[in-house]
Amino acid sequence: MMMLLEKKLSKEEINFWKSNIDRDFIANNLFPKIGKYIKNKEHKNILDIGIKSYNRADKDLLQNDNVEFYGLDKIKNCEVPADWSEMFYVDLTEKYCFDKTLNKYFDAIIDYGVLGWSEVNEHFTENDFENYINNILYILKDEGLYFFKIDLWGEHKKVRNLIYEYFKLTKFYDISNVKIKQEYETFVFSKKHI
Ligand SMILES: C[S@@+](CC[C@H](N)C(=O)[O-])C[C@H]1O[C@@H](n2cnc3c(N)ncnc32)[C@H](O)[C@@H]1O
Repeated sequence: MMMLLEKKLSKEEINFWKSNIDRDFIANNLFPKIGKYIKNKEHKNILDIGIKSYNRADKDLLQNDNVEFYGLDKIKNCEVPADWSEMFYVDLTEKYCFDKTLNKYFDAIIDYGVLGWSEVNEHFTENDFENYINNILYILKDEGLYFFKIDLWGEHKKVRNLIYEYFKLTKFYDISNVKIKQEYETFVFSKKHI
């Protein structure tokens, strides 16, 4: 994992990855398994939500070059590697963020540290939650997977209940639902209503 991070990230960024326990799960478990899953599939469009700068190595962590990798953030000027397909600058709490070309486009959406992060969701209104989830449902294929992490503080129970209204837990190797210490809970979801 370290070698993959070293290709794109600075020392400080690598230290950030090393000092957060959820990063270990992301780098050594989640991303390699998504990469493996996509290898056995014809479809390969992956969206990574919340890029900042320290997620520049995320595509590499898949260990599968045969993917179309997209990033999304509401904050402009993220550092985006040249081998990513596109970066969307979008605020997911806005109504109908995406045009028709992206309807049911993604095979996998990775939402770690955004909707499930209290520093983001504690500012959300009911409308923000609704718009965010509707945007995800719009761009995810009917058979697509939604990889989601909740940080277990703040409004996490409310967010989990809301998510379960629209998504159902689905099998995915051995990581369909994993608790990381008492700090994080990760899920692999599919659409509940098609
Ligand atoms: C904790 S950070 C990075 C999360 C990243 N996926 C990870 O796990 O490292 C959260 C990111 O989500 C972005 N973000 C927050 N609210 C958002 C929204 N409504 N729409 C899109 N991006 C948002 C922020 O700009 C920030 O870059």
